Amino acid sequence: MKYSWRATQETMRLHPPAPGAWRQCIADISYSGYTIPKGWKACWVSFSTHMNPEHFPDPDKFDPSRFEGSGPPPYTFVPFGGGPRMCPGNEYARMVILVFLHNVAKHFKWSLVDADEKIAADPIPRPTNGLPLNLRPHSNE
Ligand code: HEM
Repeated sequence: MKYSWRATQETMRLHPPAPGAWRQCIADISYSGYTIPKGWKACWVSFSTHMNPEHFPDPDKFDPSRFEGSGPPPYTFVPFGGGPRMCPGNEYARMVILVFLHNVAKHFKWSLVDADEKIAADPIPRPTNGLPLNLRPHSNE
């Protein structure tokens, strides 16, 4: 299910399920003209990382082909974080998402109840009405 996973990655790029995470500086560092002292906390934010046009040209466009081949460079696509504290559930999450997609696509024709339903971030992006769907089994067609 390579294309399904590429489409899922592109969905997570545009709507990262986790907004980011915190790190505590273990030494003074300088970054981009700012000094962050040892002991301070820094928050990395996945959404702004994912919208960098240097790595994702035309960043507002939904384009699963961005993940073809070797995909984006390391640490530019971080829905599961990165480094030693990267989400240990990422492969399990991939399997659950693909099993879900497979079953929905294989067994049902589905459509959105409200095609204009808004997404609100609190800060995790969620459909405002819970994304109600119409599901019709293929066997009924
Ligand atoms: C789409 C699903 C998921 C997303 C987007 C996600 C995202 C994340 C992110 C961004 C982090 C922080 C990584 C960092 O600090 O660099 C994290 C940490 C973590 N996630 Fe997930 N996660 C998902 C599913 C899961 C699942 C299914 C599990 C367990 C079965 C899981 C367990 C954990 C744990 C234990 C941590 C803390 C790791 C640590 O601090 O060392 N996650 N996740």
